[in-house]
Amino acid sequence: MAKKMWAGRFEKATDKAVNDYNSSLPFDCRMYKQDIEGSVAHSAMLAKQGIISQEDADKIREGLLSIMADIESGKLTFDSDAEDIHMFIEEELTERIGDAGKRLHTGRSRNDQVALDQRLYAVDEATEIMSLLGELRDALIEIAKDNLDTYMPGYTHLQRAQPITYAHYLGAYIEMFGRDLDRLEQAISRANISPLGSGALAGTTYPLDREWVADKLGMSGVTANSLDGVADRDWALDLASFASIFMMHLSRMSEEIILYASQEFKFYELDDAYSTGSSMMPQKKNPDVAELTRGKTGRVYGDLMSLLVTMKGLPLTYNKDMQEVQEAIFDVIDTLKGALVPFIGMIKTMTIRKDNMEKAALGGFTNATDLADYLVRKGIPFRSTHEISGKLVHYCIANNTTLEKLSLEQFKQFSDLIEEDVYDAISLKTCVEKRLVTGGPSSKAMTDYLNSL
Ligand code: ARG
Repeated sequence: MAKKMWAGRFEKATDKAVNDYNSSLPFDCRMYKQDIEGSVAHSAMLAKQGIISQEDADKIREGLLSIMADIESGKLTFDSDAEDIHMFIEEELTERIGDAGKRLHTGRSRNDQVALDQRLYAVDEATEIMSLLGELRDALIEIAKDNLDTYMPGYTHLQRAQPITYAHYLGAYIEMFGRDLDRLEQAISRANISPLGSGALAGTTYPLDREWVADKLGMSGVTANSLDGVADRDWALDLASFASIFMMHLSRMSEEIILYASQEFKFYELDDAYSTGSSMMPQKKNPDVAELTRGKTGRVYGDLMSLLVTMKGLPLTYNKDMQEVQEAIFDVIDTLKGALVPFIGMIKTMTIRKDNMEKAALGGFTNATDLADYLVRKGIPFRSTHEISGKLVHYCIANNTTLEKLSLEQFKQFSDLIEEDVYDAISLKTCVEKRLVTGGPSSKAMTDYLNSL
């Protein structure tokens, strides 16, 4: 085993089992790029401040960039007994450029270094997630624009309630994903702050220019307290909280995709490329993407819980427990990216069966409220009209028919105030188009809404 950089005060080498247990290289190696970018910025600042020579800073920069190139080409692999990616890169650098490599860590601790790398990594990945989430929302907006008069039932208790349009239905998810985008943007802005200069916990005696490094790394500022700088993992909790709420939305939508693609509903037909078959039952076409998304939601909640529990009892400042934060947040990132790509493809390719949606909207007495409202306009109090409409529904069920198919004579048996204009009042189109209120399903309200986005 290679000699540890901190071996000075030790008499014995680390036990192999301890080294394996301690090492985060197998998972933190994914942050090699951020580690190198952070180190390049830090060393450039050390030279600018006269803490190391420009010559050493140049050597460090070249050495680090050659390491990055070799990792990317596959020439340099992570099969070492290094403790983590930070040690791995520094050891490799010193091997390549000699003593100058040993000057890189001046005025820096691994505690502020890991905090920086993880924030940079999280910001990069979260930005990618933000663009995928935007793509999903834009796809829904486009589909909504094409379905302003696609009627379907709206549900409460999963019972047909009142008619809406498919555009209006999608509008609910467009809103949810809009709030998710806000949450993600806030999480990114809180993560994008540099802790470098916090040192191990108490800052440093070197005259570092922290703001300059932050600026060079595209970060918006520096942390204000060195203890908090190394002990804070709130940015990971912010990201996992956003992710949990977002996955809850995606899971609700998945549940509806699963239902709507069933033979019982037949509102959706999933594209062949986005569904799977059964090894035994030849007729099956399964909504695996939606089911997996629903399933993986639990996994993201688990990551959030794991982060909360890992952090809750930790005294200030850095504790090794915090190494565990990485796998949880990496899993959040991987799960979201993994779900979003196929989910977007599924949404963009599935066929909407407008005929079946409309049939369902016509079938479940979804216009019974509008019939009651019609009678209110004739001067009867709503509580009474509710009862008359309910009795008419009961009559229709007993006679296996629907409200709009009743004759005027049949209507009049329940209220002689009902006239010929009832048919227009309870038509699907009227039920939807009369709901002009902001946030409602009418094509006017929905067009205004979609134009406001
Ligand atoms: N691999 C460690 C981590 O990610 C590095 C921090 C080590 N710091 C220390 N004081 N031992 O948490």
